[in-house]
Amino acid sequence: MKKKTISEVDPSSLRGRTVVVRADLNVPLDGARITDDQRIRASLPTIRLLAEAGARVVLLSHLGRPKGEKRPEFSLVPVARRLDELLDPPVHFAPDVDGESARAPVEALEDGTVLLLENTRFLPGETENDPELAASWASLGDLFVNDAFGAAHRAHASTAGLADAMTARGREAVAGELMARELRFLEEALRMPERPFVAIIGGAKVSSKIDVISALLPRVDRLLIGGAMANTFFRALGLEIGASLVEEDAVDTAARVIEEGGQSLVLPVDCVVAPELSVDAPTRCVARTEVGDEDRILDIGPETVELYGGMIRRARTIVWNGPMGVFEVEPFAHGTTAVARAVADACGDGALGVLGGGDSAAAAEQAGVVERLTHVSTGGGASLELLAGALLPGVEALTNGVG
Ligand code: 3PG
Repeated sequence: MKKKTISEVDPSSLRGRTVVVRADLNVPLDGARITDDQRIRASLPTIRLLAEAGARVVLLSHLGRPKGEKRPEFSLVPVARRLDELLDPPVHFAPDVDGESARAPVEALEDGTVLLLENTRFLPGETENDPELAASWASLGDLFVNDAFGAAHRAHASTAGLADAMTARGREAVAGELMARELRFLEEALRMPERPFVAIIGGAKVSSKIDVISALLPRVDRLLIGGAMANTFFRALGLEIGASLVEEDAVDTAARVIEEGGQSLVLPVDCVVAPELSVDAPTRCVARTEVGDEDRILDIGPETVELYGGMIRRARTIVWNGPMGVFEVEPFAHGTTAVARAVADACGDGALGVLGGGDSAAAAEQAGVVERLTHVSTGGGASLELLAGALLPGVEALTNGVG
């Protein structure tokens, strides 16, 4: 069922109304310095739309996993500062979290201004989806906008709980601009994909992506595997993987996927190996059947780059999650960069290319192709769950739209 979005709310009805917005402002920090503000920037369209319509915007977000305790290293103060730099309307910050304590600063808000409350996860009730906490936030406003796609797979008090609490008050809970965009592209890729449909799944662990692999395999024309998880597939094929990372517990699962996948599942045919993971380690490109005892597989090799690149460039629909190798270390970045460029080229030729997961987004950024991709998702776990066919609680709880 399609959910109602903020663009379907009459803007003239927003003036003077207090709107509670859940965003995913969970950005990486180095001390108080934000190292990547992409999630903050992605949240701006909804905040701007509301502020320009004269709403009083109360922003909620989690940051990290402080486990229900007020821990200063997880404070949203640096995020408030960054938001204030990026937005025209003034951004205020309240060190309070729950609705009751935040009531005074919320009531002091003027039309068209923004107030960010402190980290929702400073309260244990957030991850426990405490209905009282959700009701305290719902009582602050007349409308709830969930724009936190990255947290939509969590049934927490500020996501699904708040949507339920707002609708229990007879008010609406709608999707924000970012949430709507994420759902549109990810669902479009799955619903009626133009073919060939190619999925690229990389990263370290088969176990963390087995659901998405199993869900995508019957739908795609090709599912290309990369990253350290390929080693577990190699092991399942009985190949030597030397000193490479492997997930012993997942070897049987990998064997099952190989059997079920048939022609659709494509594994690397060669790899870049080194005795250790370091910038100046001596590297070799070897066939996957020629990995030595001391070798560590750290990237896909040139033949695989060629093979995957051709399949990706011919594709009309592409979903990509997870790097092909240890792209953060220069000698092992080539496979991931080449895949990023191939996806960007396909998008340039009119394919729908959707990228999910923090690592792949960072890799696309490093390869300088972000602007050329159809959509880079801000959700890691959320995009994987959606691609695996799961219903996201933060989305399900929203008000139904028309159509
Ligand atoms: C993310 O970083 O994927 C989201 O912000 C969700 O964070 P979480 O995995 O800590 O719930």
